[in-house]
Amino acid sequence: MKPSLDIADLKEVARRRVPRMFFDYADSGAWTESTYRANEEDFRKIKFRQRVLVDMTNRSLESTMIGEKVSMPVALAPTGLTGMQHADGEMLAAQAAEEFGVPFTLSTMSICSIEDVASVTKKPFWFQLYVMRDKDFVLNLIDRAKAAKCSALVLTLDLQILGQRHKDIRNGLSAPPKMTAGNLANMAVRLPWCMNMLRTKRRTFGNIVGHAKGVGDLSSLSSWTAEQFDPQLSWKDVAWIKERWGGKLILKGILDAEDARLAAATGADAIIVSNHGGRQLDGAPSSISVLPEIVEAVGDRIEVHLDGGIRSGQDVLKALCLGARGTYIGRPFLYGLGAGGKDGVTLALDIIRKELDVTLALCGKRLITDAGPELLYKGRD
Ligand code: GLV
Repeated sequence: MKPSLDIADLKEVARRRVPRMFFDYADSGAWTESTYRANEEDFRKIKFRQRVLVDMTNRSLESTMIGEKVSMPVALAPTGLTGMQHADGEMLAAQAAEEFGVPFTLSTMSICSIEDVASVTKKPFWFQLYVMRDKDFVLNLIDRAKAAKCSALVLTLDLQILGQRHKDIRNGLSAPPKMTAGNLANMAVRLPWCMNMLRTKRRTFGNIVGHAKGVGDLSSLSSWTAEQFDPQLSWKDVAWIKERWGGKLILKGILDAEDARLAAATGADAIIVSNHGGRQLDGAPSSISVLPEIVEAVGDRIEVHLDGGIRSGQDVLKALCLGARGTYIGRPFLYGLGAGGKDGVTLALDIIRKELDVTLALCGKRLITDAGPELLYKGRD
């Protein structure tokens, strides 16, 4: 098999190894997927300034995100059903991130639980919270993240109701998958995935099973979110969540300068400029296109991070040049995980690290912390 040299290569390997329902779950946006595509397309429109004859020795990608040292400013984003891309996926990805020196964010909608991930890692990871109608369950989730010594809570603001993703409906997405003839045929030609899945007991939502009361059809993400997620979540809720948590708080899902000002006023530590990977409001602008106006609005008051559309180290650098302090990758690490488990996640991170390092050098800088708008080409389109 030819080696994977970029994230697109890893995506093609994952497509062959992961049952279609779960590959498609990662590789989809809402409705027409126009925002999903724009996230990637708008990165391509940004060009670098090539600079020559500058000393390129002693380069460093080290930085900080919310005060935590990172080997490069690229965290693993919270992604649902990660343990369906590969058995025990969240535990493997968290270990890869820990060894690489970047933050791992565990989703509420994960397959492995908070306690599972804590049991295989030594450094603190971050926990992403969805707010349910059942407040006791939410308080308990926050307390479990505290007990596991998570060092940041990432509160998602843009998913009180689930955007419609056509592929998930057509595939009948569920975890575990239903044993229909179509699913069985699809899994039968992906034997390593099946063998690994048979070896683990983690095949449904590990943070929820055995913890939440009165859940109906837990296997279906869409019916579960419709039943359980709190559609009344408001800015007032951020205050009690912040207080209960008592640690670093990151607000995820800001795409508008006015919302960024409201987020900064909560006293949170960072915001993530995000449209949920194009999976929620189709027709919203790409994350990278709104980053400058959000940095302009609140950049002096709160750390600004970005996710959505990052497929290379070059994209990471573009986001940093436009004012992001840190970035997140979701699909790139999921493709690595699907392609090769923990080693695949490490490979995805390594690909991004090398692209980031070489691009920074060819733009005439040695330190990632020196990245700024002067690295971008402002001339003809
Ligand atoms: C969950 O966060 C999803 O986007 O499916």
